[in-house]
Amino acid sequence: MRNLGQLSLGWPALLCICTVFSSLFTPAVAVKENDFKKCHQSGFCKRNRAYADTAVAQGSSWVAPYKIPFELASFKDGQFQATVLKTIDDQGTTAELPIIISFLKSGTARVTVDEQVRKEKSIDLRHNSGARKERYNEAEKWAIVGGLAVDTNAKVSHEGKTGMKIQYGPDFTFEADIRFEPYSIEFKRGGESQIKLNDRGLMNLEHWRPKVEKPAPEKKEGEEGEEEQKDEENKEDTVAVNPSEDESTWWEETFGGNTDSKPRGPESVALDVTFFGYEHVYGIPEHSGPLSLKETRGGDGAHTEPYRLYNSDVFEYVLDSPMTLYGAIPFMQAQRKDSTVGVFWLNAAETWIDITKAKESKNPLSLGIGAKTNTHTHWISESGLMDVFVFLGPTPKHVTKSYGELTGTTAMPQEFSIGYHQCRWNYVSDDDVKEVDRKMDRYKIPYDVIWLDIEYTDDKKYFSWDYDMFKDPMAMGQHLDEHGRKLVVIIDPHIKNVGGYSVSDELKSKGLAVKNKDGKDFDGWCWPGSSMWVDCFNPAATKWWSSLFNYDKFKGTMENTWLWNDMNEPSVFNGPEVTMPKDNLHHDNWEHRDVHNINGMTFHNATFEALMSRKKGELRRPFVLTRSFYAGSQRLGAMWTGDNQASWEHLGAAVPMILNQGISGFPFAGADVGGFFGNPEQELQVRWYQAGSFYPFFRGHAHIDARRREPFMLAEPYRSIATAALRLRYTLLPSWYTAFYQANQDGSPVIRPMYWTHPSEEAGFAVDDQFFLGSTGILVKPVVEQDKNTQEIYIPDDEVYYDYFTYNKLSTTKGKNLTAEAPLENIPILMRGGHIFPRRDIPRRSAQLMKFDDYTLVVALDKHGRAEGELYIDDGDSFDYEKGQYIHRTFKLNGSTLASTDAEGRGAKSVKEGDWLKRMHNVAVDKVIIVGAPASWSKKKEVQVEAGGKKSTVKLEYFKADGSRAAFAILGRVGASIGADWTVDFS
Ligand code: GLC
Repeated sequence: MRNLGQLSLGWPALLCICTVFSSLFTPAVAVKENDFKKCHQSGFCKRNRAYADTAVAQGSSWVAPYKIPFELASFKDGQFQATVLKTIDDQGTTAELPIIISFLKSGTARVTVDEQVRKEKSIDLRHNSGARKERYNEAEKWAIVGGLAVDTNAKVSHEGKTGMKIQYGPDFTFEADIRFEPYSIEFKRGGESQIKLNDRGLMNLEHWRPKVEKPAPEKKEGEEGEEEQKDEENKEDTVAVNPSEDESTWWEETFGGNTDSKPRGPESVALDVTFFGYEHVYGIPEHSGPLSLKETRGGDGAHTEPYRLYNSDVFEYVLDSPMTLYGAIPFMQAQRKDSTVGVFWLNAAETWIDITKAKESKNPLSLGIGAKTNTHTHWISESGLMDVFVFLGPTPKHVTKSYGELTGTTAMPQEFSIGYHQCRWNYVSDDDVKEVDRKMDRYKIPYDVIWLDIEYTDDKKYFSWDYDMFKDPMAMGQHLDEHGRKLVVIIDPHIKNVGGYSVSDELKSKGLAVKNKDGKDFDGWCWPGSSMWVDCFNPAATKWWSSLFNYDKFKGTMENTWLWNDMNEPSVFNGPEVTMPKDNLHHDNWEHRDVHNINGMTFHNATFEALMSRKKGELRRPFVLTRSFYAGSQRLGAMWTGDNQASWEHLGAAVPMILNQGISGFPFAGADVGGFFGNPEQELQVRWYQAGSFYPFFRGHAHIDARRREPFMLAEPYRSIATAALRLRYTLLPSWYTAFYQANQDGSPVIRPMYWTHPSEEAGFAVDDQFFLGSTGILVKPVVEQDKNTQEIYIPDDEVYYDYFTYNKLSTTKGKNLTAEAPLENIPILMRGGHIFPRRDIPRRSAQLMKFDDYTLVVALDKHGRAEGELYIDDGDSFDYEKGQYIHRTFKLNGSTLASTDAEGRGAKSVKEGDWLKRMHNVAVDKVIIVGAPASWSKKKEVQVEAGGKKSTVKLEYFKADGSRAAFAILGRVGASIGADWTVDFS
């Protein structure tokens, strides 16, 4: 629950908003589900579900009103162009919907449908609205950064009056079968159907129409009271022109006391997408629930509501729910044995997605046995273009890569930001910060960043300090810097609406705030009380925002100060569904309705840009954490899953959510360790540290009412166990950084679910509580239940697996669970044979202090005695890696030789070395640990190492297999420079 005491309000103001806020005083555990719409309370969702029901009920007699006249269709230079005609009345009147299908070089196809009258702006808006008349067509501008080059080799393979077939993609193995009437597009790979758009004829693009005022029908006696009550939420002042359509939500909608004026009337876009033979679909974050998405139209264990995407400040969120959360990525992948495909629905408005699955039986006598399951999805958005990208895989990696080409991949992180972050609402003074810092050192707990929540400000005026409590912010920053540590401060998008506060005054005078429907600065309530919102859709606002972060402007900040953007859904306490009215106006007069889900990303983007220009000549990778996000936010920083609770259930819910972020292109993700609300008992907190040490973004955080719970506060043995988890994270930082590099290169998730690494193993498709760390072969399944001493781990293949800590060779069976020992002090971690991964074995106080430490390589041999791995290193801070200032190695152990070579085959002098690369010459491979070492090495005491043309002899210690413990060997010190070529000869 929010803490109203944190709002800085005068008494009169407080009195008037008490009613508005009364709902905030319910107990912390109460879920605010009713503050958020269900499908039937969102007019366009209700209408489209009803449309689907009608179509499904009519079965084969359903005649969808959309067709493409063949004479209007053409194909040229990789693009199909036509007009879809929508029949809108019994007289056969049609609305023209221009359609373009682009076949992109990456093998992705894009289908865009617009509305002619809206393109031409020849519509009238109601209520003298100043809103734009077009359908919102700028989502692309924010989400897409590449991959749009059209494949001019795509070719027509069949053309006729009923349709056209286009061949495209790798070796022309992809095909789009465009049918004109009824209109549909079927996508095939290798001749086999994968995805079909408008398969069930649920496409619905609500065309613009003028409102026809008609007198309401006379009411019969006695009906009045009932009616009034019924319509309280959905007011209606006209009757339907076409009685078959439910017009009651076309022109106005009221929810929770807020009325949406809807100046353009109904304008939703909806489409059904069928995945043939695909039983599992993943993605469309952010929701809490299993990775493999559930059906949404009822039935055993299924949801009854569609998955919703409408970025919201849903505090105390319900688990296992299709309810919307803080961010939205409308990208879905479907998985069946050996095949992965996907769709990306590029729309920024409120969106709902229904999912149903059905057995398809071609043989009526088979009674469904052996029949394939098709997944049917129904995408429904309130406004904007219909804009869909189709990915035909065939592997998860192909799909993630193609999606990454469009929306961009994870930015290379600041190296410190993959260390541990210590946060709470709030560290109350600079002394408090220093004390926490000192205690972390005293207990030898590594951490990189300490965070300041909203209370550091003077009265919630961002860019200011409460100097009573934070007497000398610069001295505090410098104190942290002495151990390579950083400070993150929060800056939210709501700006206190008060005179004499320069940020607020400038925002007003420069006209850079979001406007209400009447074109006046929108005023709403958030932490500071009365607030305005910076409109980061406006380039001028972004520019102004940037200027506020200059070191000489934002006093008290310095080179080690980084940023946290919260409440950017945006959260508006007194707004409809805790956000902005949909008829608010943004830059260029786009309605908030059109851009809502992108709003958070624009703010994140503005802060990212600001950090790129804090000081002339300083160009460093920004670190900005965001709560709200959209497709593309991965380019800007990290996200966390918002206000969770200190409960075992929330601990369990986090991994599937973080995995979902990863496969949806935004892997720099984490959940508040310990749980935001409430007070975790020590066991829960320790288990959370163990799990958190494998979150890509690893931050402990707590609500202002929660008790202090920094890891050093734990009693023994809990403190030592949590500390061990933190230290484990730090030793593995080189592997984490390499995994981030891979994410940056091709969109691979940093932590990878089983379906992603093993797309042939159906038994793993629904497994979402364990994962591999990058390509290291490290398989983790954190314990998320109380009093557990063992953990069942699903084994996805018949490779050999070793226990990470004991080197025990585990007796595993492909497709079966292994029972691992998991007393409180154990994180169940396995090493899959065949991998080599890097570590730094002396954990220090911060990642920065480890920058020039030597490396340990861990080699886990596979069944055939082989292993391979990768290491990527750069300065972790600048953009010099773009100029070749990095080390990228491949390690291979094959037979009796272990070799380190440049992963890209670059020669030794391929770049002019900068300072960092020069310094790295002195960073060496210290030890190599070979798990599963062959018995033939048992007599060896030393081996030959060749590095830089020089040979040396290095000590080898061999440990025989002992019971279930595998044989292993420790080699060292190797001494070869980490960036150089070297070989070890074990023969
Ligand atoms: C929101 C954030 C939370 C933060 C609080 C105060 O609830 O989700 O992390 O501590 O606001 O800023």
